[in-house]
Amino acid sequence: MPYLSPALNVMIAAARKAGRALIRDFGELENLQISRKGPADFVSTADSRTERILVEELTRTRPGYGFLLEEAGAIEGRDKTHRFIIDPIDGTTNFLHGIPQFAISIGLEREGHVVSALVFNPVTDEMYVAEKGHGAYLNDRRLRVATRHNLADVLVASGAPFLGKGGRDEFLAELNAVVASTAGMRRFGSAALDLAWTAAGRFDAFWERNLKPWDIAAGILLVREAGGVVSDLDGRDRMMDCGHILATNDALHRPLLDLLRPKS
Ligand code: IPD
Ligand code: CA
Ligand code: CA
Repeated sequence: MPYLSPALNVMIAAARKAGRALIRDFGELENLQISRKGPADFVSTADSRTERILVEELTRTRPGYGFLLEEAGAIEGRDKTHRFIIDPIDGTTNFLHGIPQFAISIGLEREGHVVSALVFNPVTDEMYVAEKGHGAYLNDRRLRVATRHNLADVLVASGAPFLGKGGRDEFLAELNAVVASTAGMRRFGSAALDLAWTAAGRFDAFWERNLKPWDIAAGILLVREAGGVVSDLDGRDRMMDCGHILATNDALHRPLLDLLRPKS
């Protein structure tokens, strides 16, 4: 059984409540595809409402904690040592297209370090949690990163830039290097779940550029608590500041950093 701190229990309860509403919304989308207004407005409402439920639930049990929210931005708390970092729907484009690969992501920071993490896909009912120093779990099962160490055998996940997002040339150069040297590449559309799946050993590695703190705050702790290594693409611990990330096992970390390094 996972060790669940009181704070993590509160995060799980909040995510389950918000998840129930999200599943109802996901079911509604099918009808909306054919409506004239289209589903995009509906999804942004679902996004904001999910965030609001999470904030309400967490504030009720942890009054005073601050928030960093994708939708509403930063909210200062009286308690300057604790802050929840939240992405209410990571994988919005999937959600909009009826693809059940999206998640609620919550990281709890204490004095600048994430100490509790949750990534929850309400459709598959996969609840990934981690507590600093106490391991990572998928529901009740302890997670370990994959042990593969030959690049030729590994499956690597990433996120691709899209309309309005920069970094296309860099991504294509990295993709080129990865597909030439590994068993395959996947782009599933939720960075939080990509990290959770790396913690679970489904992916051997995940890299992406230009992410936001709410995409990765929880996932970084999940991978580390599953025995993995996480850094930015220069090998430093600055992912939350620069938004670039590589998560994998110890054996693959250096070879993948080298593979992703720009070729001059
Ligand atoms: C996005 C997802 C996606 C990643 C994008 C993020 P959103 O978050 O994590 O996998 O490639 O960069 O913005 O917009 O669905 O919350
Ligand atoms: Ca996101
Ligand atoms: Ca989001």
